[in-house]
Amino acid sequence: MMHKGLSVHRLFLPVLFMAHSAYGDVSYSFPEEMKRGSVIGNMVKDLGLDVNRLSSRKARIDTEGNRKRYCDINLNTGELIVAERIDRESLCGKKSSCVIKQELVLENPLESHRIDINVQDINDNSPLFRKNVIKLEIRESADLGARFLLEEAHDADIGINSVQNYNLARNEYFELAVTAKTTGKFHSELVLQKELDREKTHEVTLIVTAVDGGTPPRSGTVAIHVTVLDANDNAPVFSQAVYKVSLPENSPVDTVVVTVSATDADEGQNGEVTYEFGHLSENDMTIFSFGSNTGKITLIGSLDYEEESSFELPIQATDGLGMVTYGTVVIEISDINDNAPLIVITSLNSPIPENASPGTEVGIINVQDRDSENNGQVRCSIQQNVPFKLVPSIKNYYSLVTTGELDRELLSDYNITITATDEGSPPLSSTKNIHFTVADVNDNPPVFEEQNYRANVQENNKPGSSICSVSATDPDWRQNGTVVYSLLPSDVNGAPVSSFLSINGDTGVLHAVRSFDYEQLRSFQVLVLARDNGSPPLSSNVTVSVFITDENDNSPQILYPSPEGNSLMTEMVPKAAQAGSLVSKVIAVDADSGQNAWLSYHIIKATDPGLFTIGVHSGEIRTQRDISESDSMKQNLIVSVRDNGQSSLSATCALYLLISDNLAEVPELKDKSHDESSSKLTFYLIIALVSVSTFFLTFIIIILAVRFCRRRKPRLLFDGAVAIPSAYLPPNYADVEGAGPLRSTYNYDAYLTTGSRTSDFKFIRSYNEGTLTSDLTLKKTPSVENILEGLGSEAENISQLCT
Ligand SMILES: *[C@@H]1O[C@H](CO)[C@@H](O)[C@H](O)[C@H]1NC(C)=O
Ligand SMILES: *[C@@H]1O[C@H](CO)[C@@H](O)[C@H](O)[C@H]1NC(C)=O
Ligand SMILES: *[C@@H]1O[C@H](CO)[C@@H](O)[C@H](O)[C@H]1NC(C)=O
Repeated sequence: MMHKGLSVHRLFLPVLFMAHSAYGDVSYSFPEEMKRGSVIGNMVKDLGLDVNRLSSRKARIDTEGNRKRYCDINLNTGELIVAERIDRESLCGKKSSCVIKQELVLENPLESHRIDINVQDINDNSPLFRKNVIKLEIRESADLGARFLLEEAHDADIGINSVQNYNLARNEYFELAVTAKTTGKFHSELVLQKELDREKTHEVTLIVTAVDGGTPPRSGTVAIHVTVLDANDNAPVFSQAVYKVSLPENSPVDTVVVTVSATDADEGQNGEVTYEFGHLSENDMTIFSFGSNTGKITLIGSLDYEEESSFELPIQATDGLGMVTYGTVVIEISDINDNAPLIVITSLNSPIPENASPGTEVGIINVQDRDSENNGQVRCSIQQNVPFKLVPSIKNYYSLVTTGELDRELLSDYNITITATDEGSPPLSSTKNIHFTVADVNDNPPVFEEQNYRANVQENNKPGSSICSVSATDPDWRQNGTVVYSLLPSDVNGAPVSSFLSINGDTGVLHAVRSFDYEQLRSFQVLVLARDNGSPPLSSNVTVSVFITDENDNSPQILYPSPEGNSLMTEMVPKAAQAGSLVSKVIAVDADSGQNAWLSYHIIKATDPGLFTIGVHSGEIRTQRDISESDSMKQNLIVSVRDNGQSSLSATCALYLLISDNLAEVPELKDKSHDESSSKLTFYLIIALVSVSTFFLTFIIIILAVRFCRRRKPRLLFDGAVAIPSAYLPPNYADVEGAGPLRSTYNYDAYLTTGSRTSDFKFIRSYNEGTLTSDLTLKKTPSVENILEGLGSEAENISQLCT
């Protein structure tokens, strides 16, 4: 290159040389920065000097003044050579022409030739920027096409070798606009081609290269750091468009529901985000709060899934300069088993009639649970041991039905506890009591307290007196259990029962209507009916057996001797009678029974008290000692017969005894009055004898008849020891029905005379021939007792005779 340049200058140089040579001066044009020794030109030739003489003439190069000597002369060749580095830029700077003035001095003769060396620029300097890095701040909001002037690059070279152009490395945002100034300089501007976004790129580095026009060109680069400044060009952005959270309904106050966050790409105040709710209902405002700086949504109220199962809260975030963004928080409330089941009695049929058949529906129950899913699934039950069950009906409904028979009399109230439990965990349950009453149905008849009643009534009772009371109970309710008593109509001895007894319908007390006579009626039975007041009524009956008990109301009746005649009844006592001989016997009966009829005999007055004794119970009169001649022929005895009743009754009679072997010996008996009675007596005796024989005959016939019938009929309770004619039975005597059982209870032994069977009992019936009939028909059950009783009754008829 240098050679080429040099040759160019050489071609050009002769013209200059020629011009200068005329004046004795030479001028050379020579590029800077040539090596030392480089030949600038041949001065000997150019000045026409003799080469050989140069040394002798001491040719040398002088600098003008104290300037630096850049050149030297080769004394052998006369060539001007570079002695010192020639740097145009340090010599001349930006001057467009740079000439070094040197002087060739020769001596002998002294000669001086000016040498001008025109230093030519070579491109030995690169363009240079003042700094390696240029910092530039551009707001991101800068418009497209905005221009930013760049500092020039400096190039020490001049002319074409100085900065001729600028280049910008390819980048997204800027282009370079280069313009040439009139001064020949260039300046460049960055032109914004694409909008800056700090949030995307907050710094752009550009490389600008300044290029000079040298050959080859040189360049210098500078880095431009563009800092993109923020503008509030970004709204905050929520991290999620919709925040979905789930929250259990029992969450306590202060629970953080969700923390939302919105980011703002901007910086500083532009990026400071505050949060708030959008439009909220008043209710929601009492439940949620929003931390304006923290983004925390907190619970401040209570949640109830059953009231609101989800919330949709509009939220917004605002940056410092008011850019707003919107979002949504969706809160799903999850159900918690916080509602116990509710039991509703929809209908209830109380009271239930006790005859309701099993399976009768008595109530409808509805259960509700506000919770959902399993928490709202309810099972329903009732306690065991009641005749009721729950039958599931349509959804959430149950029927309460009976499972068995009800009996109000056993249990009239039911207290049923319904328990409903849901299937949550833990499960909740609730209970409800239902009270059922069982309504009465007249299903129980009155029941008497005893299977049968017996009443003992003392005879001669006062009419109207109460004799006993019956009582029946009926467990039914009110009138269904109210018992009314009545007598069932029947006959007693041919008379209606109502003429004997009456009953108090309310109390069941039986009253005697009449005064009873044991001797006429010993017992009877009535049926008492107890009826309740239900409709239809139920009833039951009971037998009341009334037993009339004896009272000592009958005096002993002396049958023999007849109390009537005094001398008529004369017993003959043989004179030879020894001590203990039976002389006579007092026969007495008592219509009463038992102790009241137990008779005792006493001699209360005697002609000769020591002569006779009387058996206290037999009534037999015996001699106490042998009869002696001195004893009075006529002996009178007053005998008293007493019964053994409480206040004993007695009867007396007189007995006339004649101690004689012959009736004729007793002239005293044939007195006037006695004759009459004697003839009467004889008459009666005859009648008595006839009667006795007739009776005896009849008796024999009956015995035969009985024997004859014996094979078919049970043996009669009759041993024939004492034969009593039926005529002694009371005319209206009727064996009371049911006398059989009575017999076992009451001892009806008639106390006639003890030992009479063995004694020589003489039955004298001569005084009352009217009663001595031939009606000898025996009753169908002629027991001894009956017969003897009949005898007693008959005696009653005679009683008037005895005083
Ligand atoms: C039913 O039973 C409940 C509890 O067992 C009790 O509180 C209530 O008094 C009872 N009601 C009746 C009428 O017995
Ligand atoms: C008595 O029973 C009848 C049915 O036999 C019934 O209709 C009535 O209500 C009952 N009376 C009372 C007071 O319970
Ligand atoms: C008395 O009760 C019996 C059963 O106890 C019954 O057979 C009879 O018919 C009843 N008599 C009357 C008159 O009601």
